[in-house]
Amino acid sequence: MSRIDGFEPPLHAAALDRATFSANEYGRRPAVEDRYPLPELAVVVPTLNERLNIRPFLGLLEAALEGVAWEVIFVDDDSRDGTAAEVRAIARQDRRVRCIQRLGRRGLSTACIEGALACAAPYIAVMDADLQHDERLLPQMLNLLRTEAFDVVVGSRYVDGGGVGEWTRGRANISNFATRLSRIICKVAIADPMSGYFMMRREAFEGAMRNLSGQGFKILLDLLASSPEPLRVRELPFQFRQRRHGDSKLDTLVAWEFVTLLADKLVGHIVPVRFVLFALIGALGLVVHMGILRTALAMLGFGFPESQALATMVAIASNFFLNNLFTYRDQRLRGWKLARGFVSFALICGLGAIGNIGIASYIFAHDHRWWAAGAVGAAVGLVWNYSVSSVYTWKARS
Ligand code: GDD
Ligand code: MN
Repeated sequence: MSRIDGFEPPLHAAALDRATFSANEYGRRPAVEDRYPLPELAVVVPTLNERLNIRPFLGLLEAALEGVAWEVIFVDDDSRDGTAAEVRAIARQDRRVRCIQRLGRRGLSTACIEGALACAAPYIAVMDADLQHDERLLPQMLNLLRTEAFDVVVGSRYVDGGGVGEWTRGRANISNFATRLSRIICKVAIADPMSGYFMMRREAFEGAMRNLSGQGFKILLDLLASSPEPLRVRELPFQFRQRRHGDSKLDTLVAWEFVTLLADKLVGHIVPVRFVLFALIGALGLVVHMGILRTALAMLGFGFPESQALATMVAIASNFFLNNLFTYRDQRLRGWKLARGFVSFALICGLGAIGNIGIASYIFAHDHRWWAAGAVGAAVGLVWNYSVSSVYTWKARS
């Protein structure tokens, strides 16, 4: 910018000038990585109420990764114990530490996915915050990826030298059974597809990321099943340690999420798994309906219209609660939202029933095959109930 004696260009013009200069320069200066070492390894750690584990975890990580340029991204689902605040307190002093806090969301797998999406490192590790995963494996995992043709290196409990420590017999059996089931969808031979501890190449993640189902706890299994090319996997043994602070979030419904992951990988490309669940619960509702109808008629001595009305109400209620518990587990309604959801669901199903009966009667009037008319009516009702309730009752995000 030319400068005339005695004339100061307006401040913003000068600032813009400087900004344009540095924008053109940006990225061309050679020494960026000398001034700020760029992470080669990003460690993604999902957290839910792990505040007391954060500092011990970082201490172990730092010791294990000496000489490696690393960063760690905690993905916290709005823990009530102040995990995110703890991570940020540390992040103010250590640029290797970052926090993604998600509001109103849950899910170990989606947390890992979003952590991986939020970094740029060529290698990404996924591990738990509770010190159960042996961090001393990390350098070896990294070296294998750097020097050999593997896409994923897995910390494995089920190869020689690995183990699950002091698990109860019951949990070990369940894990064993689930591992066998998971081989149905897994494209590669692997002893521990259910492990939550692994390191991958960024390209392997990016190749699979749009196909990931994100259901539940089993992010490694999801990755292996979703990758368009079979991934080249290497397993390293480790001993699964005992938790020191806090509790496991693995509950019985995690098993259910595992089933939905399997279902999604098996039929998800044909119909959405939610729809399948909704239809199955609908079929169960029919059984409930018939049971109540019969009981009311035969045992309570009600007339047919009252019995039919009672059976309908009970079936709608049971469908609502089962769908809320299973089909929409990830966005389960509670408190007054549960009450409001129930009212909207009942109204939607009422309209669905009217449409069902209307269409079935119309078809029956033209074509006297009762079963065809009935089936078409029921299918229309099902699709209506599913699609409208997914928007108005559960406000599905996807
Ligand atoms: N962000 C987020 N959201 N994190 C979560 C959630 C969630 O909904 N649920 C659990 N976590 C975090 C926990 O805070 C912990 O850091 C990690 O995920 C594992 O959770 P745990 O509750 O400790 O699981 P676990 O020890 O029973 O199960 C582990 O071992 C399994 C193999 O038996 C996990 O590594 C599983 O992924 C693994 O399959
Ligand atoms: Mn754990």
